[in-house]
Amino acid sequence: MEKKFKRTLVTTALPYANGPVHIGHLAGVYVPADIYTRYLRLKGEEVIMIGGSDEHGVPITIKARKEGVTPQDIVDRYHKIIKDSFAEFGISFDIYSRTSSKIHYETASDFFRKLYDKGEFVEKVSQQYYDEEAQQFLADRYITGTCPHCHNERAYGDQCEACGTSLNATDLINPKSAISGSQPVLRETKHWYLPLDKWEPYLRQWILEGHKEWRPNVYGQCKSWIDMGLQPRAVSRDLDWGVPVPVEGADGKVLYVWFDAPIGYISNTKELLPDSWEKWWKDPETKMIHFIGKDNIVFHCIVFPAMLKAEGSYNLPENVPANEFLNLEGDKISTSRNWAVWLHEYLVDFPGKQDVLRYVLTANAPETKDNDFTWRDFQARNNNELVAILGNFINRSVVLTHKYFEGKVPAAGMLTDYDRETLAEFANVKATVENLLENYRFRDAQKEAMNLARIGNKYLADTEPWKLAKTDMERVATILNLALQISANLAIAFEPFLPFSAAKLRNMLSMGEFSWEQLGRTDLLAAGTQLAAAELLFEKIEDATIEAQLQKLEDTKKANQLAEHKANPIRENIEFDDFTKLDIRVGKVLECTKVPKADKLLQFRIDDGLGGRTIVSGIAKHYAPEELVGKNVCFIANLAPRKLRGIESQGMILSAEDADGRLVVITPADEVKPGSEVK
Ligand code: MF3
Ligand code: ZN
Repeated sequence: MEKKFKRTLVTTALPYANGPVHIGHLAGVYVPADIYTRYLRLKGEEVIMIGGSDEHGVPITIKARKEGVTPQDIVDRYHKIIKDSFAEFGISFDIYSRTSSKIHYETASDFFRKLYDKGEFVEKVSQQYYDEEAQQFLADRYITGTCPHCHNERAYGDQCEACGTSLNATDLINPKSAISGSQPVLRETKHWYLPLDKWEPYLRQWILEGHKEWRPNVYGQCKSWIDMGLQPRAVSRDLDWGVPVPVEGADGKVLYVWFDAPIGYISNTKELLPDSWEKWWKDPETKMIHFIGKDNIVFHCIVFPAMLKAEGSYNLPENVPANEFLNLEGDKISTSRNWAVWLHEYLVDFPGKQDVLRYVLTANAPETKDNDFTWRDFQARNNNELVAILGNFINRSVVLTHKYFEGKVPAAGMLTDYDRETLAEFANVKATVENLLENYRFRDAQKEAMNLARIGNKYLADTEPWKLAKTDMERVATILNLALQISANLAIAFEPFLPFSAAKLRNMLSMGEFSWEQLGRTDLLAAGTQLAAAELLFEKIEDATIEAQLQKLEDTKKANQLAEHKANPIRENIEFDDFTKLDIRVGKVLECTKVPKADKLLQFRIDDGLGGRTIVSGIAKHYAPEELVGKNVCFIANLAPRKLRGIESQGMILSAEDADGRLVVITPADEVKPGSEVK
């Protein structure tokens, strides 16, 4: 049963204001949200799009401390950069605000207080590390120490990045404060928890029964969270950056960033519409859609809905079309490794080409699986699609009209069968694009819009009006009239996707008022309408330009490698005797399986020439278990056994690690007997 709504509230994930935004942000959240919103506006529907910066959280405080500035300095800097980038790319927010605003502090604080007063939280006292020198509690990220599973000495209080295990700070061996370097002590601290378990039956029903239409990736993640059983979640932290917990005796405590940030959607709506914001959040005839990336699914589908439910007067989202991730040239986008195409840099390198990036990111949108952005694909889509099809068709239509009719739209005469076939072909475009957009299938929707240009391009190529100019001007008039009507259709169809080019095109065609409903019509331009001068919508991107971008990425890779070598210099010399203490052997892999619930660990059964042994190794991210069966590997045979995930590991398999953290198992160059010594 399809619900009827009166208006749509579009929210976009609030990006952390601790760095600029890159193509991954644009592709994952802001371009699809913008397409959707522009489409609804064009249909004359009541819609607003809400955005803003997420300005709290521990990483912002870490960055500030590193730079010796305040967290406010950090967020002021990046809020501006991010806001400007979005504006430049035509992301048409009705408001782009921030969570350090006064109205947000009030809204988040009141929201917490309401839940507190209703008894929706449980209070719990727990033990937390405290830095006596710095006189503050330590966030998990502020504590480093030795991983109890793999003995990596640089594990964090929330996770060991070497073996991928998620940790509690209290699991660390030899914990150290990242602030003062001192050894932290455990102290009792009180926090407020949102009992998600209480909402589990409701969420199960609402999502798993009520929203089977959600994207499979979203639905699947929700299902697995719910099936694992929901636990109470702390919504406060001991930190001096954030919205203070509005409760007596909560000094030094703030709302957890994931509690306050989604409330930012509400605060920003209030800031935009102080008098009418409530209808956007509480009227059941408002449809709320959250645009987010896949790492935000649990917060938007489970935690925030539970908060809203606990509050009692708010709507829940109707859909959460989360995207998967966009990679760059085959590697995960990474801010810390500078592996990204930054929007502010793109604008310098490709001035005026915002639509090209928007087009490519939509054409490659990671809607159902992770996708890859490559510069070669960027070039090809620009040259072969935007220039060769869309741009070429528009340019021919307008230039020929100037050439033969002094730039005035000619009147159409009798239509031929071929004309009618062409019209029939594009008659369905409106319904198709609409249906795709309403189901959040932006990639296919854009493809359909492009198909309209293909139809036009083919029409001109087949009818060749330039050849008829000498003999049959009446026919030329008909052809160009039709081509210009198709062009006007393109100006409407592409408005949500390529707003800059669509505006240029409308200007060229002297189109006044326009709306989505006109799509599919062939009387959009009255005969006699004077066109403006022809202007190229797109231009070819040369190989050299693309090679410069690839070089830039190569340089980044090299710089990362150098930094890695610096961070990992050759260790101090040892004596031969030290070396002989190591007993390295060759073994044959007999069996290899995944260790349950440890996404980095593989369990090996090795023929070591002595009856076999078991070794657990942290290379599951790099090999499928079956790939290694039958291989000869090298292992340390006299490493004292230790337990990993309850399995006794009798040794260690040797592999090489490159600067990107890729692990490659060391194998002997030739077949050699299991148990052979490596020396
Ligand atoms: N800042 C978060 C991120 O970048 C997203 C916050 S979305 C909100 O992953 F709902 F909390 F605002
Ligand atoms: Zn570890």
